[in-house]
Amino acid sequence: MNRVIGHRGLAGEAPENTLAGIRLAAEQGMKWVEVDVTLLSDGTPVLFHDRRLNRTTDKKGRLKSLTYSELETVDAGSWFSNQFSGEKIPQLGEALKLIKVLGLGLNLELKTNGCSESKLVETVLKTISEVGFPKDRLLVSSFNYQALVSFSDRSDIQVGCLFERLPMNWRKKALRVNAVTIHLNSKRTSKRQISRVKSKGYELYCYTVNSLTFARQLMGYGVDGVFSDFPLQDN
Ligand code: G3P
Ligand code: MG
Repeated sequence: MNRVIGHRGLAGEAPENTLAGIRLAAEQGMKWVEVDVTLLSDGTPVLFHDRRLNRTTDKKGRLKSLTYSELETVDAGSWFSNQFSGEKIPQLGEALKLIKVLGLGLNLELKTNGCSESKLVETVLKTISEVGFPKDRLLVSSFNYQALVSFSDRSDIQVGCLFERLPMNWRKKALRVNAVTIHLNSKRTSKRQISRVKSKGYELYCYTVNSLTFARQLMGYGVDGVFSDFPLQDN
């Protein structure tokens, strides 16, 4: 994976989890992006981070109150800047097609946010297969460990363990899902933990790092790359 991964597309420069953000990430030279995927109540997989619409759209209330047909009515760009007015909440299939065409790598983060783990996993796998997204450019992660177990049991797509803080039993968890990468919160990770993870042969990525100085410090400790809202200078 590249050393700087566009977080939620490129969230510092375009509205998060949108097609515009993914396009901009590619234009700015990013080689990989991370986006969040969850389900509407009708089972449609969409890119979205929060449980509620309030922060990142012109609507209020729960994302799950929306149906597939209502996606067109939601503006997910204006809150960020008028330049992105009319930007929609993308369906996963649209995003995968775009990322495939742009030739980017993708870290797809499964956000259950109250939906069924197995339904999310099943729907995501079906969409990946329909789009024919290349597996060598795909890495799936989740804070929801059961979702990750379910995903790894049903697929040979690469998996990364995503933790807020490295747990005591991280290795056991990583082995259970055949993880190739470990993803940690940069603010809650010590130099010693970085060494421990690296000594076991895992690639290690930290979120969310928006300072080039901090990114360099982490990489100096052995971190392989960072999730960033900005391209950072040495991308
Ligand atoms: O996957 C890395 C990072 O995106 C995890 O945190 O809350 O931004 O999805 P969050
Ligand atoms: Mg995420």
